Amino acid sequence: MIVIGGSSSVALAQEIARELGCEFLRASTTRFPDGECYTRLDRDSMDEDVVIVQNTYPDGNLVEMLLIRDAAVGMGAKRVAMVIPYFGYARQDRLFKPGEPMSARVMCGILDRICDKVVTIDLHKESTLDNFSHPHRDLKAAGPIADYFRGKGIDMVLAPDIGAAGRAKDVGGRLGVPYDHLEKTRLSGTEVRIKPAKADCRGRNILIVDDMISTGGTIIAAAAALKEAGAESVAVACTHGVFVGDALERLTNSALKDVLSCNTIESSVSKISVARIVAEEIGRGF
Ligand code: R5P
Repeated sequence: MIVIGGSSSVALAQEIARELGCEFLRASTTRFPDGECYTRLDRDSMDEDVVIVQNTYPDGNLVEMLLIRDAAVGMGAKRVAMVIPYFGYARQDRLFKPGEPMSARVMCGILDRICDKVVTIDLHKESTLDNFSHPHRDLKAAGPIADYFRGKGIDMVLAPDIGAAGRAKDVGGRLGVPYDHLEKTRLSGTEVRIKPAKADCRGRNILIVDDMISTGGTIIAAAAALKEAGAESVAVACTHGVFVGDALERLTNSALKDVLSCNTIESSVSKISVARIVAEEIGRGF
């Protein structure tokens, strides 16, 4: 088996290959002057199963994934597993207004035609994977997040909204500390209102967990509400650190003690690795 790293996920793919004890191959990807993608796998043949690790976000990464897969199959790859650490368009998983596309389903339709297995991590909604006809698995990052924070003095885990309540329960349960969720109302794409926490936060070292941070609006509002309620410290760990614009800078300059993400999107704060859980899933077979 060969693990191929696309440009979004080179380090993660390398780590997965190491965990599996198999070969790692980095796709050599560049852009033509007009922006189109060029990629090449530096090999003569590929008579084995391959695992391609690549995000589908931003859009250019999806094109790169399609080209890598074509190059691998063209050289004789047997079965192809796609590991999609961050699955773009997962949030448009239903029609909010008439006339919209079901973007998550469109992405699934494309992937369904090009691989034999799909592995994702903390999809916005797990049911999105029901659109795949091949074996598929959405892995949970709660284990790696809890492992990272074990012994670091966290004494409460909170989700910023009810949608992430299960994640707070999972991480809090693993750490053996109380967990709860806040109540969030979205005011606009960048602004949210967070109600004061029901749980007693006074003097607590709180960890907020969420599936993703995009603009940072949710987490900045949650951290402010918790500090207001008397929390001793507030840290945040998300699975997908999308960090649009200056979000990461605003987060690190806010009331937060720590900002961490998993390495599904690589950045200066993506210190929590999902390589082990991905390797375990790939090791179970196609
Ligand atoms: C919402 O349902 C998600 O779980 C995140 O809370 C949200 O996408 C975060 O977005 P932002 O960082 O822009 O507030």
